[in-house]
Amino acid sequence: MRIAQRLGLAVGAGLVIAALWAGASVTATAQDAQPDLTKVPVGEALPPKDVSFSFQGMFGTYNKAALQRGFQVYKEVCSACHSMNLVAFHDLGNPGGPDFTAAQVKAIAASYQVPAGPNSKGQTTDANGQPLMRSAIPADHFPPPFPNEEAARTANNGALPPDMSLLAKALDGGPARIYSIVTGFHLKPPPGFKVVEGKYFNPWFPGWNISMPPPLTDGSVTYTDGTKATLDQEAHDVATFLMWCAEPKLDQRKRVGFEVMIFLVVLSGLLYLSYRRIWKDMH
Ligand code: HEC
Repeated sequence: MRIAQRLGLAVGAGLVIAALWAGASVTATAQDAQPDLTKVPVGEALPPKDVSFSFQGMFGTYNKAALQRGFQVYKEVCSACHSMNLVAFHDLGNPGGPDFTAAQVKAIAASYQVPAGPNSKGQTTDANGQPLMRSAIPADHFPPPFPNEEAARTANNGALPPDMSLLAKALDGGPARIYSIVTGFHLKPPPGFKVVEGKYFNPWFPGWNISMPPPLTDGSVTYTDGTKATLDQEAHDVATFLMWCAEPKLDQRKRVGFEVMIFLVVLSGLLYLSYRRIWKDMH
C-alpha cells in the first residue's frame, strides 16, 4: 500500500475516534426549567429537566464519589419509605459501583436489622409476637421499611412508594426523571388546577398530584466527603446511585463495546492489507 493511502487510513480512523470522544464528553449543565404551565396539557408530566450525568455517552462511567454520596442520601432519606429489594449489601463493594471497602460494606450491613431465622427452639418471634431480628451481613439484601404493602400504604396516605431497585430504568426519562421529580416541588399550580388534599403539586409526575412529600431540601444530609449538600447535589447524587442500582454493569458493557469496536477497526485494516498483498501481482 502506498504511504499516502496508509496515512489516509490512519488519519480517517483517528478522526472517527476523536469525533466519538468529543460526542461523549459534551456536557450540559442542569437548568431549572420554569415552564409556563398554562401552555401545556393539564396533568401531562413535563419532559425531564435537562440534566447531565457522568455515566451518559459512549465513554461515560459512574462517578464513585457521586455513588457513595447517593447511597448516603438513599440510606438517610429515601429508605424511610422506599424499599430496594434486589440490592444486596455486598453489591456496594463492587468495582465500577460505589466501591466501598470490605470493612465499610460490613459496617453498612451491620447498621441494618433483618429478620433472624428460627432460633434453637424453632421460634421466629419473641414473647410479644415480634419477629426475632439480627444484624445484617454483606450477603443480605436491603430490608424493606414496611413489613408489607398495606403497612406501606397506610403510612403514605394510601399511596405505595415504589421499590427503588429498578426505578431508574422503569421511569420514562430514567434518572433525569428521578432528579426532576425530587427537585420539582417549587412550581405554583396554574390557575384552576386543583391540588388534591394530602397530595403535593409536582408537574414532573403524571397527573401533577404526588403523594410523596418533598423528600429533599438543602442540607437534608451532611455529606461525609465534605461536599456541599444542596438540593441539586443531593438529587443528582441519588439519581446516580439509583441508576447504578438498576444498571450495575453499565461501565463494563460500554468497555466491552469499545474493545469490540477497536478490534473491528484493527481487523478491517489487516484485511485490507492482506487483500492488497494477495492481489499485488494481479494488476
Ligand atoms: C415519606 C415517604 C417517602 C420518602 C422519604 C421518599 N418517598 Fe418517594 N415516594 C413516596 C410515595 C408514597 C410515592 C408514590 C407517589 C404517588 O403514587 O403519588 C413516591 C414516589 C416517588 C417517585 C415517583 C415514582 C413514579 O412511579 O413515578 C420518585 C422518583 C421518588 N419517590 C423518589 C424518591 C427519592 C429519590 C427519595 C429520597 C430522596 C424519596 N422518594 C423519598 C414516598 C416517599
